[in-house]
Amino acid sequence: MKASFVPLFLTVILALFNGSFSLPTTIGVTYTTPPPTATTINTPKLPPDRIAATIFGLHLPAMRLPESDPSLVRAFAFANTSLLLTIPNQLVPSLALNRSNALGWIYRHVLPFYPRSRISMVSVGNDFLANAPNLSPYLLPAIRNVQLALRDLGIKKIAVSTTFSFINIIATPFPPSSANFQEPVGNLVIRPFLQFLEEINSSFLVNIYPYNMYRLSRDIPIGFALFQDHPFNFRDDLVTGVRYRNLFDMMVDAVISAMAVAGHESIPVIVAETGWPSSGGDAVEADATTAYAEMYLKGLVRHLRSGMGTPLRKEGVAEIYIYELVDKEVKQGNRNWGILYPNMTKKYNFDLSGANEIGGRDKAHFEQLKELGIGSHALINCQSYLLGNPMKSITFFSLPIETRRQFFEMEG
Ligand SMILES: *[C@@H]1O[C@H](CO)[C@@H](O)[C@H](O)[C@H]1NC(C)=O
Ligand SMILES: *[C@@H]1O[C@H](CO)[C@@H](O)[C@H](O)[C@H]1NC(C)=O
Ligand SMILES: *[C@@H]1O[C@H](CO)[C@@H](O)[C@H](O)[C@H]1NC(C)=O
Ligand SMILES: *[C@@H]1O[C@H](CO)[C@@H](O)[C@H](O)[C@H]1NC(C)=O
Repeated sequence: MKASFVPLFLTVILALFNGSFSLPTTIGVTYTTPPPTATTINTPKLPPDRIAATIFGLHLPAMRLPESDPSLVRAFAFANTSLLLTIPNQLVPSLALNRSNALGWIYRHVLPFYPRSRISMVSVGNDFLANAPNLSPYLLPAIRNVQLALRDLGIKKIAVSTTFSFINIIATPFPPSSANFQEPVGNLVIRPFLQFLEEINSSFLVNIYPYNMYRLSRDIPIGFALFQDHPFNFRDDLVTGVRYRNLFDMMVDAVISAMAVAGHESIPVIVAETGWPSSGGDAVEADATTAYAEMYLKGLVRHLRSGMGTPLRKEGVAEIYIYELVDKEVKQGNRNWGILYPNMTKKYNFDLSGANEIGGRDKAHFEQLKELGIGSHALINCQSYLLGNPMKSITFFSLPIETRRQFFEMEG
């Protein structure tokens, strides 16, 4: 019975997006504060300015902060890096019960820094449903209260959403055309949430890990999960007649299909987390290797830059955040996901941003800076920042915020 109507609406979606042009996906990275462990308890935390400088050195336009640490948000003043903040799951019930709690959070984490720090979105919780299924009725009221609190304060440009985890919300993901939201949360939480997203023009955030899906389904070839071209690395969706060349696209399209079944197929999708661990906890994680992690990230970035999108979403995902910036210095036996070692050196030899060139715009910035007559030391710092020198640009981020402000206000 299902097969009789599914092809029709998916054909409509395909037709809708055929011929539309695509903007490149914004590629960012997640930074989580390493938890204190026996070996790191005495090591000082990485200073926020160092994190901000590193993001600049890597030319990454966006950053996701699951802990929304105010000192980190402050460090991105005038940095033009867009920030995706997250409200911790344990606060969700209190935000739902009382809007002043939502206001309180905004007062502490957003108001002191915005708009100097370019906060683009607040995710109310991360994988909240899986962490507290019995508290699911709180999720939407909490999101609404955060949205209303921002509007109360006259902030219109910060979007509000929440983050789901693919594995915990999608039922029957393969082929993608058969995907649905898991029940009962599909009807109770996700459908009304999609309706709300449409009303406020926000995006659907989902964590997508082909690594986990690959480990769950042993019939998936590793190359299919790692964006490798190979004659056997494809899966056909016989309902839509679409051929998939990688697991990532299949998972994104499963989300798109589930949204379509729920009647909201055009909401932008943001991948809040993706990645591949370079080392695994135990023997069954034999595929958590540095070589595979590099293949996954390289393949992913190449695929996103191609502008091909996915078969059901020609413009692709709007933003994607790689998990994560720095390996956690934890005891042996834990997974490492970082693109940098704990000493902040690069683990992989490729460019995430695709932006090596120093544009004419940056050179003009530098000339303006000279005219401003700021001291030669600061000048060199700013130049280093503009040239993306990850080591020296650290000093740019130690400049007083007032100097940064002057610098960026020249833009007009
Ligand atoms: C800031 O970032 C936005 C979006 O990434 C970009 O369009 C803009 O040119 C940037 N501004 C400066 C001053 O670099
Ligand atoms: C909400 O919180 C504020 C401040 O803590 C308090 O004054 C108010 O009575 C609370 N409202 C409700 C309905 O609990
Ligand atoms: C919705 O958001 C997009 C970008 O996120 C913007 O271009 C568009 O104008 C917005 N539409 C409405 C109705 O606010
Ligand atoms: C940083 O750490 C990595 C991995 O432990 C090591 O291979 C590299 O030599 C270190 N680099 C520096 C500059 O200490």
